[in-house]
Amino acid sequence: MVRESGRCEQAGCLTWHYYFETVVPHLQTSRLLLRPLELADAEQAQLLFPHWEIVRYLSNIVPWPYPPDGAYKFYRDVALPAMERGDEWLWTLRLKTDPGQLIGSISLSKGENNRGFWLGLPWHGQGLMTEACEAVTDYWFDTLNFPVLRAPKAIANTASRRISEKNGMRTVAREERDYVYGRLPSEIWEITAEEWNAGRRSK
Ligand SMILES: CC(C)(COP(=O)(O)OP(=O)(O)OC[C@H]1O[C@@H](n2cnc3c(N)ncnc32)[C@H](O)[C@@H]1OP(=O)(O)O)[C@@H](O)C(=O)NCCC(=O)NCCS
Repeated sequence: MVRESGRCEQAGCLTWHYYFETVVPHLQTSRLLLRPLELADAEQAQLLFPHWEIVRYLSNIVPWPYPPDGAYKFYRDVALPAMERGDEWLWTLRLKTDPGQLIGSISLSKGENNRGFWLGLPWHGQGLMTEACEAVTDYWFDTLNFPVLRAPKAIANTASRRISEKNGMRTVAREERDYVYGRLPSEIWEITAEEWNAGRRSK
């Protein structure tokens, strides 16, 4: 029940809420609110996420065609438990001008892919994910204190690669990876804490 709502007010549930508040903080940028993911977000995510333009260059662990309960099950069974374990940090994105509307999501993870994101189609091309990436990358280096951030991406994923370039990342390897689209040539993008901090100082 606690997992289901994340807002339960019964005794004991407070502990759960406090846990999420401390492990994944609220962040913000000039235009965006980054709110720790909750199971209740699945309803809006389910409406925005299942589009070919969004899923095609995501890992093939994303089921396609996307089932009607895909977001709910992913949040309940994968994302929220990973947040609870301290392995992943997930946020939903909202415009400050319309905080009730979820517009996308961004995540940080231990392992080989440290940062992932998607944005609903109506909000593409406005620099919003670049903004969200700056906030979570700061968090990765400054608060979580990881020494390096790495992210594989399909070479065909021009928008995502452009975000990496704008972040000051560089490619360190090429390999084939499996996406919803199928097997595609990919690059591993990387930036160290030193490079990230030097880039911020020069801005
Ligand atoms: C990747 C994604 C989050 C980008 O979000 P966004 O808010 O539109 O991105 P931004 O506006 O911050 O930056 C995108 C950059 O790519 C550029 N871009 C976007 N599409 C492009 C294209 N087809 N060709 C060339 N450049 C392109 C934009 O012009 C912008 O660069 P600029 O600031 O130099 O002009 C969005 O396209 C998305 O949700 N894609 C599907 C999910 C996905 O692929 N996630 C990443 C997996 S690695």
